Amino acid sequence: VRLRPVTMALHHDLRIDADRLWQRLEALGEIGAVHGPNGERGCARLALTDADRDGRDLVVSWMVDLGMNVSIDAIGNVVATRAGSDPTAAAVMVGSHIDTVRTGGRFDGNLGVLAGLEIVETLAQHDVTTRRPIQVAFFTDEEGARFAPDMLGSLVYVGGLAVEEALDVTAADDGARLGDELSRIGYAGPTPVPAAGFPHAYTELHIEQGPVLEDDGVTIGVVTGVQGISWTEVTITGQSAHAGTTPMQLRRDPLAVAARAIHEVRLIAGYFGAPQVATVGMLDVVPNLVNVIPSTVTFTIDLRNTDEARLKEAEAEVFAVCRAYASDEGCEITMRTLARFEPVEFDDAMIDLVEGTSQRLGFTTRRMPSGAGHDAQMLARVCPTSMVFVPSVNGLSHNIAEYTTPADVEAGANVLLHVVLARAAE
Ligand code: GLV
Ligand code: MN
Ligand code: MN
Repeated sequence: VRLRPVTMALHHDLRIDADRLWQRLEALGEIGAVHGPNGERGCARLALTDADRDGRDLVVSWMVDLGMNVSIDAIGNVVATRAGSDPTAAAVMVGSHIDTVRTGGRFDGNLGVLAGLEIVETLAQHDVTTRRPIQVAFFTDEEGARFAPDMLGSLVYVGGLAVEEALDVTAADDGARLGDELSRIGYAGPTPVPAAGFPHAYTELHIEQGPVLEDDGVTIGVVTGVQGISWTEVTITGQSAHAGTTPMQLRRDPLAVAARAIHEVRLIAGYFGAPQVATVGMLDVVPNLVNVIPSTVTFTIDLRNTDEARLKEAEAEVFAVCRAYASDEGCEITMRTLARFEPVEFDDAMIDLVEGTSQRLGFTTRRMPSGAGHDAQMLARVCPTSMVFVPSVNGLSHNIAEYTTPADVEAGANVLLHVVLARAAE
């Protein structure tokens, strides 16, 4: 028996079917669809809502149609496996998430999962059997918009958070318990977490969600890692009283404290300079009435930096000003960490593989860190990991106007295909 040359085994000429991938993106995007006044088509599929269940059911039906073996674990992560020729070999995994923020798009997360299915269908159509199994995963609650922290499902998958603790997280919107919602939608699965064995390698195709690639006119972002993320919920309590009768010097107004603090958060990011970013994205005022001094104000602070030491400094400064302003006003303050992840660097060989594969396929590339959090940063704890970015039109994401062109979707999926083929032949 003569061994086939390596180049043949890697199927260099193989390409995904771009129309088929686009149709799946369209179909999944119809579930929880949100239509904007200017023709925007976005998505609202918050984690573990009915819309998330419907999206899951559709993707699982596709996995089953492709003859994949579908497993659902105790935190609701779904992993579908296509067998390889070596039954003892660890799988090469691709994946992402299909939950969205309330004002989300149709590409964030969905692209990585559906490109995975497209790879499997391409291999099946061309009768290609890889040595290693290929797995396509979608992880529960990547967004963290309903249940903090973000990347919760992949964090539990790799053993970074105990499943019991994760199941007890309550929703920011309606206070529902994560475990109850997971059971309600039928996705509390039997497979134990953390996973019994981890993949040989993991790679994730994702939209950039920022303006850098478009600005540079580059097709493929070779992702070197993910910046550190710090989410804090700040609650300030004062004295609710009559807006007309309470003299200014006798007030304990938590919204006045929050206003000063929020202003300062932005100033601090400014003098730290790039890549430090800081966002207050949520503000809740009680009782939120025109003639009542508020009793309680809750807001969130999202701080990110690629440098852990700088991120710690930013946290220290921001938390100190919040405390100082609360004390000036005679208010009480409590702070609760919602998410805290250190910066992550991806595997050098995996980064090189994404770059080399993209260039071989004729695409322009640029190395860049990720500004957004991704399931890949959790998988990086347990196996060699990389990510492939494609451009976001106008740099928009977490916005219903989020869009990536069919040509860029196709390019990214073909890079993903050949990264997977290379690792699955090992
Ligand atoms: C999660 O995806 C985040 O980056 O906020
Ligand atoms: Mn995402
Ligand atoms: Mn997102």
